[in-house]
Amino acid sequence: MTWDPLQLRGRFPALELEVAGRPAVFFDGPAGSQVPVAVVEAMNRALVQFNANLGGHFVTSVGCERALQEAHRRVAEFMGTEDPGEVVFGPNMTTLTLALARAIGRTWEAGDEIVVSRMEHDANYTPWTQAARDAGVEVRHIEVNRDDCTLDLDSLDRVLGARTRLVAVGAASNMVGTVNPVAEIVNRAHAANALVFVDAVHYAPHRTIDVEAWGADFVACSAYKFFGPHVGVLWGRRSLLEETPVYKLRPASDRLPDRWMTGTQNHEGIVGTAAAIDHIASLGDDATEGRARILSAFDEIGTYEGALSERLIAGIQALDGFHVWGITDPSRFEERVPTLSVTHARHKPVEIARRLGEQGIFVWDGNFYALPLTEALGLEPDGTLRIGLLHYNTSDEVDRLLAALAEL
Ligand SMILES: Cc1ncc(COP(=O)(O)O)c(C=O)c1O
Repeated sequence: MTWDPLQLRGRFPALELEVAGRPAVFFDGPAGSQVPVAVVEAMNRALVQFNANLGGHFVTSVGCERALQEAHRRVAEFMGTEDPGEVVFGPNMTTLTLALARAIGRTWEAGDEIVVSRMEHDANYTPWTQAARDAGVEVRHIEVNRDDCTLDLDSLDRVLGARTRLVAVGAASNMVGTVNPVAEIVNRAHAANALVFVDAVHYAPHRTIDVEAWGADFVACSAYKFFGPHVGVLWGRRSLLEETPVYKLRPASDRLPDRWMTGTQNHEGIVGTAAAIDHIASLGDDATEGRARILSAFDEIGTYEGALSERLIAGIQALDGFHVWGITDPSRFEERVPTLSVTHARHKPVEIARRLGEQGIFVWDGNFYALPLTEALGLEPDGTLRIGLLHYNTSDEVDRLLAALAEL
């Protein structure tokens, strides 16, 4: 390991919180991660040193422009592209996806088709189905295998056709943690001449996004899930971002990435997003730099999280009455990130979440907006109990959760 998990926790002041006299356990990461102090300081600097709008002929405006350019470059490195113009910032992934879906939907014709997976967060489902409805386009589905919560790729082959315009799929499920074979899905979709939109929101804090290796056309993520502030990121292929008929204001530039970044942006948040990537990179091998260091960091993060997952999953499976949804076999952990959905034979997820919350263990219950998936698995209206681990969690915290669950 190039970093010590306990030392690393010192970078996150929020982790010092105590509840009922004991340290809080943050297993709520899938809904938003905690933030290292370096990110807060970077945002602070942006607000104090260059808090100005863009395009002015004075020092703070020039400083802001420069910082944003650097952030585009850093996020491009994070996404795996060399073109910072392909990186679009916005309020969050949902808003960016709604805007993109409205824009792309204008290019569809009645009788066209789109394909969406049933494993999605609703932010990668409803923007597309609504745009489809507006354009008279038929919606088809990639189904989910119930036994291990993976995608049924045969069902993708069945629904791809000459009129498929777009396939929307997640890189990792925010409910069951499954990592999807994105490159394979892109290959099949491109063979049918369909575009592919990838929701990498849940994937981003755990694995390296690689827009080139995936071959996708659009990839979105959200900085507040990877130790940054509340900022959304959309990457798109240059030609597509240039050609798609976006809704924008007349005085705003038609160049990339500006034509997609409507209104005045959250400058301090964009600067903080780059600082969050610096945090991740700092965990990588210091003999490397740039993207190589990000890759090295995620290797370390993956190994660490894999060991925690194994402990957590084995521990829960040893308890009475619990069912773990999704992949549980450690030999298949390449196919999952450490986000676990569990249900109990007698206790509702909300009851368990409340009990744990009282003890300072933060977990979520419900559908986490992964409504297509809870519906497909027949888990509405209660959903599941979601335990989400990040690189700042520890095996002691896992053991504390297991002990609390055993007391149920
Ligand atoms: C997998 C996934 N996609 C999309 C979203 C929506 O992201 P945002 O909150 O940035 O709109 C979330 C948020 O929880 C998510 O987990």
